[in-house]
Amino acid sequence: MLKENALKGKLVLVTGGGSGLGRCMTEHFLSLGAEVVISSRDREKLENTAADLEEVVGRRPGVVSCDIRSWEEVENMRKEIMKRYGKIDALVNNAAGNFVSPTERLSANAFDTILDIVLKGTKNCTLSLGKYWIDERVPGTLLNIVTTYAWTGSAYVVPSACAKAGVLAMTRSLAVEWAKYSIRSNAIAPGLFPTKGAQERLLPGDLKGKFDLTQKVPVGRVGNPQELACLAAYLLSDYSAFINGEVVTIDGGEWLGGAGQFNFLRDLSPENWEDIEKTVKGRKL
Ligand code: HXC
Repeated sequence: MLKENALKGKLVLVTGGGSGLGRCMTEHFLSLGAEVVISSRDREKLENTAADLEEVVGRRPGVVSCDIRSWEEVENMRKEIMKRYGKIDALVNNAAGNFVSPTERLSANAFDTILDIVLKGTKNCTLSLGKYWIDERVPGTLLNIVTTYAWTGSAYVVPSACAKAGVLAMTRSLAVEWAKYSIRSNAIAPGLFPTKGAQERLLPGDLKGKFDLTQKVPVGRVGNPQELACLAAYLLSDYSAFINGEVVTIDGGEWLGGAGQFNFLRDLSPENWEDIEKTVKGRKL
């Protein structure tokens, strides 16, 4: 979608960049000329991904292992990247944790674990980078990966819904507060992108076979990670310089499909509509 080298000269940090959507975004950013550093807890996974990407794109992302739940580890990650590359232009808060469970079955620690990864982890990375950008008087770009249930809420993923709602509030708040420092803050709300990690945790075991997820999506299919990567690249690029505080939904119409009161009528056939029209049209009170 973007011109060749549209991200050239930018250093982008992608948390959770070793797999799934994070890996796909990393590949796309590299192909558009960016330098990318990927982070996660699992150093081996990061190294394998970096080697794979070097084969596919011809350029290798840097890797830093970091548990974003720890402020100290996040600060060390930022310092290490600065030492190696001299700058960080953009942060993609992509790392997340989630699993499905009735809320009453969760231990307090299970609830905290998701809040800590998603909300506290995003806060740690955002605060660390934000302080650095402001102190050094350099511009920065924040991109947070949330979800459509950040604003609707969702049963069975309550810790994730609470945390993502917090991240969305952070996105919009900082868009206003930090704009004067030339820091932009936006979010992407993906719908169904069945990556391996998400699928294993959100539709475990034989649950996958029990539901046809495409039925939930008005466009009749799930998302292709490349579609999300293109949107993310645009939101990091200078072409979107006037977009600030926005959350862009990329879900094929899924969440609105579940919201509109009469959306269920989309299953009716043209014959059904003929009958309905005959019954209703011209009726006076
Ligand atoms: C109930 C569970 C559980 C489950 C873990 N726990 N899995 N409880 N049901 N399925 C409990 C544990 O018993 C423990 O509580 C606590 O949660 C912490 O678990 P640990 O395994 O010790 O934590 P940790 O090793 O830090 O692993 C975190 C994790 C794991 C979230 C549980 O799945 C992970 O690392 N996930 C990262 C990747 C990920 O989740 N990707 C999917 C993101 S998809 P006790 O009380 O026993 O100590 C996403 C998409 C949103 O976010 C949008 C979708 C459309």
